[in-house]
Amino acid sequence: MPTSSQPEALRLAVIGGSGLYRLGLGPLAQTHQVTTPFAAEPVCIIEEQTAAGKVLFLPRHGEQHSIAPHRINYRANVWALHSLGVTHVIAINATGGISAGMIPGRLVIPDQVIDYSHGREHTFFSEQHSLAHHIDFTNPFDQQLMERLAASIKQAKMEYRIGGVYGCTQGPRLETAAEIRRMYRDGCDIVGMTGMPEVALAREMGLRYAMLALVVNRAAGLGVGEISLDDVKLVLQQGVDGIRIVLGHCSQLLLAH
Ligand code: HPA
Repeated sequence: MPTSSQPEALRLAVIGGSGLYRLGLGPLAQTHQVTTPFAAEPVCIIEEQTAAGKVLFLPRHGEQHSIAPHRINYRANVWALHSLGVTHVIAINATGGISAGMIPGRLVIPDQVIDYSHGREHTFFSEQHSLAHHIDFTNPFDQQLMERLAASIKQAKMEYRIGGVYGCTQGPRLETAAEIRRMYRDGCDIVGMTGMPEVALAREMGLRYAMLALVVNRAAGLGVGEISLDDVKLVLQQGVDGIRIVLGHCSQLLLAH
């Protein structure tokens, strides 16, 4: 048993979003099939051996992108990561850009969330509630992990913004122009469909969690004409290569210390 004077053993996982269906940082070390109380099917988690150590990977939409944002079993996923001893999670999320500067290709490390999703299983504490289960969520992301991510993007000499509000919509449809105008008034910088309840469940499990968001389009009503999925796919393809480089640096930084 570690004593309180020993540092926590760091175990890193990456949750992949649209465009990132395999981690690709090193050879396959192990495939985990984790049974959880939340699904009949086990959660499949890939473990890779990188230069700095092992990293776990879970593509939240499935390897073939067959799971819609509102159908993702967020509880099973977070539970499975926790049960494998994960302590730190880097989540990758494709997003639409709302505020100035949030243009396709930009990397963003948000520090706040507004949840517009609904009807999702969003807590581990539905059945056994107590006062202790009102988790503090003032700052939903882990500051230290955000800073490590920022340092890794700097190392990769890529542009990014640290801080910003991620608005989570229900999907799978994109938003109307009026919904995006409302989100802008609310203070949202970027919009995606999968950040919640994932971030909150990670907090309930005591995991350190940060998001690396890639802007893949200007949000509805802010670009020229309608949103082109072909354009989005192109930005995703290019962006994912950069994200892999950042993840390589960040896993080195985290696992080497
Ligand atoms: N809206 C919501 N989710 C998204 C978007 C968007 O414009 N782009 C990528 N994911």
